[in-house]
Order: sequence, then C-alpha cells, then structure tokens
Amino acid sequence: MEMLFFWAFSIVLTTACCAVYDYGAYDPTRDDFRPGTFPDGFIWSTATASYQIEGAWNVDGKGESIWDRFSHTPGKVDRGDTGDVACDSYNKYREDVQLMKNMGLKHYRFSLSWPRIFPNGTKEDGVSQDGVNYYNRLIDELIANGIAPMVTLYHWDLPQALQEKYGGWVNEALVGHYHNYATFAFQTFGDRVKYWITFNEPMIVCSLGYASGEHAPGIQDSSSVSSLRCGHTLLKAHARAWHTYNTTFRQLQRGKVGISLSLLWAEPRDPDLPADVQAANRAMQMINEWFARPIFGDGDYPNVIEDTVQKLKLSMELPELSDEDKSLIRGSADFFGVNHYSTRIAADKPSHIQTQSVLESFEMTTAPEWPRGQSDWLFAVPWGLRRLLRYIKEHYGDPDVYITENGWSDGDVQPPILEDTDRVCYYMTYIDEVLKAIEEDQVKVRAYTAWSFMDNFEWARGYTERFGLHYVNFTDPSRPRTPKQSAKFYSDIIANNGFPEGAEITKMVQDMWGKCRGSDTVKEEL
Ligand code: BGC
Repeated sequence: MEMLFFWAFSIVLTTACCAVYDYGAYDPTRDDFRPGTFPDGFIWSTATASYQIEGAWNVDGKGESIWDRFSHTPGKVDRGDTGDVACDSYNKYREDVQLMKNMGLKHYRFSLSWPRIFPNGTKEDGVSQDGVNYYNRLIDELIANGIAPMVTLYHWDLPQALQEKYGGWVNEALVGHYHNYATFAFQTFGDRVKYWITFNEPMIVCSLGYASGEHAPGIQDSSSVSSLRCGHTLLKAHARAWHTYNTTFRQLQRGKVGISLSLLWAEPRDPDLPADVQAANRAMQMINEWFARPIFGDGDYPNVIEDTVQKLKLSMELPELSDEDKSLIRGSADFFGVNHYSTRIAADKPSHIQTQSVLESFEMTTAPEWPRGQSDWLFAVPWGLRRLLRYIKEHYGDPDVYITENGWSDGDVQPPILEDTDRVCYYMTYIDEVLKAIEEDQVKVRAYTAWSFMDNFEWARGYTERFGLHYVNFTDPSRPRTPKQSAKFYSDIIANNGFPEGAEITKMVQDMWGKCRGSDTVKEEL
C-alpha cells in the first residue's frame, strides 16, 4: 500500500540536487524590490506555541501532553531536549509582552495548552483554575499593552489522557472532546480574544504524528490508514468548532475563526512544458489540498486522497465524509490561515509501468542556488510565496488570507547569531512579495505573522534550530532574551506599515540589499 502521507511530508524534506533551470539567478521582473506600504489596518504579528515556549510542564496541576510524553522518551528528540522549561514563558510572560511592546507589535499569535486547562482532557475530569488564570493573565497583559491576542486552540499538545483512552486523533470521539474544549475557550476568553485558529497545520499533525512517527504521538503507519483517520477527525472537529462559534458566540463576541494550513509552492521545472506544469499541479494537490479543498474549495477531498480512501476502504474500515459532513466543512472558516516557508521544483516523471501511482508521477527538487536555513527543508525562495498567494486567490474563491507563519532558522552556535542578516534578508524579501501579491495581484492578504517571536523548542530538532527574532539563552536558568537585528528590522517595517519611499526603512532596505546579495547564504536572491 502506498505510503501516502509519510511520503507527502518527506518530499517536503527532500533536498535533491541538480535542478536544470537556474531559479536562483536574479530576475529583475520577478525579484526587484518594490517599495510601498500595506493597506490600512494590515495586521503585523509574531507567533509562538504553548509547548514550544511555556515550560512549566507539570506545574500548577497541568496535565501531561503527548509532547511531554514523546520528548521524555529517549531517542525521539535531538540531544534529548525537552520542553520542560523551554523559554519559561509560563513565568516570564510579562517580560515577553514588554519585548513585544518595544517592537511596536499590535498582535501576537500564541496557543493554549489543552492539558493546562483540562489536565485529563475533559471538563468533566476537572478544570485547572491555575491554567485558566495563566491565560487570563497573559491575555489581560497583552491587551493592557495594546496587543491583540490571536489564539491557536491546538498547536500539537494533546492531553496524554485522550491519547491513552482513545488512541488520539484516529478516533472520532475526539471531535466531541475538542468541541467541548473549544467551546470552553470561546466562553472563557472570547470576550477579549477576537482571532481564533482551530488547528495549526493538520497535515503535519497527521503525517508526522500518525504515519512517519517523527512527531508525537509517534505512530508509525505506512499504510496511510491512521493519517487518513486523523485527517477525518480534524476536519470534523474544526468544522464543529467553527459552527458553534458562528451560531453561539459570533453575535456577542464579534471575532473570527480560521485554520492554519502549511502550504508549499511547487514550481514547474519547465513552465513551457505541459507535462511539468501538470506535475506541479499534482504536487500541489498532494501537499496542499487535503484540508484546503474540503474547507475552502468544493468540499470534497482532492482526487489523490479520495482514491486512497476508496482503495483502503476495500480492506479495512475507513470513515468517509458524508454529504452532511461535507456541507458542514465547506466554508467553515472566516479566513484562510497560511503557514508558508519554502518552495520546490516539480518535474514530470514519466513511467511506462501501468500501476504507477500519482506519487511516482513527479519528482521534487530544489535549485542549488537557493539559500538554505539550518532546517534541512527550508530554502529561501521569496517569489514562491507570491505565486502561492495568487494560487489561493484563484483556487479558493478569493478568501481573506492571514499569513500565520513565515520565518527562517539558523543554528545553535557560539557565539550566538545576533546580527542575523540571513533572517533579515528572508523577511525583507518575503514581506515584499506579500506587498506585490496585494498590490499587483489583488490578493486579499490581511495579516503577516513572523515565526517566531523568540527561539524555542523546535519539535524533534529540540533547540538545535533557532527561528527567533529574539535570542534565548537556553543554558541560563533565567532564560534571558536578547533582540536580534531581525527584531529591530521587523519593528521598523511595522512602524512604517511596510517600506514607504523616502523613509528610514527604505534606506535600511537599500543597505541590506547589498548585504543580502553578498552574504554567504543569501546570494542571488535579491
Ligand atoms: C510549526 C511551528 C514550527 C515551524 C518551524 C511550523 O510547521 O507550526 O511550530 O516551529 O513550522 O518548523
């Protein structure tokens, strides 16, 4: 049987060499810097997630999460790193908010830890008032400092109790449990929280958690059955939470509820070769549409998922989306949340074998010129974001788009990289592509979110990869934070609402342009 979702993610990680076409070369019509400002009211934000920053894993009655269990299992995370202390934001949140204020941030995306609120997974099994108080304090502190909270309900730290009792997201019983948790969050925090994200990156949850096993809960199932069941549960849980907000809370609370999908851009190797263009389409469908099409498209699974469901259904019980499910899922989002980091080149892989599957019908590579971050899957290809945004506009009915993550990793080295020129180059060029998408392609991008506010626990990579605008010293018990050059740069962009001509920021951009082009990794991108 096909290793559909294991494979789907592993191509994202593929770093194959030798692209024929020179995508790294500077192309002025594509890559020229465009000065200008963003629309009034544009949302500038940064993001974190509970398990990646909070620490205090077993403090004040918090229950165990699947990531606590996973990171405490030897061999699962590089160097044996855990989120036990992480950035200690549970204790240092006031300092974090001050740093945000210093940057001029008006929005902050963070996630709630479900087991910090319901230690055993359900309200019936007990609410931790200390956990609720923590989020109340954090939200109040943000608002007192003029920062609007954007809350992710699920960023991967499921209560271990639900994993044990039900086997996690493979079990549809979690639709109801998630719904109760989401409803509790709307009830408790919705007077002050106006932006909700139901799930962060469902595709990653299901493919890394339930197929390759690289993430918690670490289930390895190459048959695709577990990952498909997981996806089925997440789609239904998402839709149910949105409908409850829509019918019960929206009128009073006046907020918005969306979902964050991890999307990749696939560029045809030869745009003039129909076979490569079709290969890129197949790749986009494989990687991006599993959740996007049911929610934002026509409500169906993309063919490649549907075919697998049908095939697997013959041999074992696999739930299908009923017409009622589909109609509940279709349109169940007030905005399209996009987490985007990188691009791949897709080429047709002709084969004469009759049984060839979609998966074997194209290959994905990167260009040798593309600068690479510390993460082996992260290549800087700014124009890929613009093309992806245009694709979303054209394929999903021109929705309001919130970029809920975008960012760059460097290494855990000494001395620490505080002059993080590569990250500045990444942000400068990617944000400029967002501007082009808004101004030239009329994509309705309403928000941009930098991942991440500070260095944090990078999942299976532990603390070996740093994505922060702030440096965090993880060997110092007090976890001091230091703003990097990128924090200053991003805060100038926020203050200027982009890159207005004649302003200080434009001079900085001109200065950076040279540095980016001359730096070791970001060479010909500008
Ligand atoms: C996740 C973050 C993660 C980032 C960098 C996203 O997939 O939402 O939690 O740290 O990518 O890998």
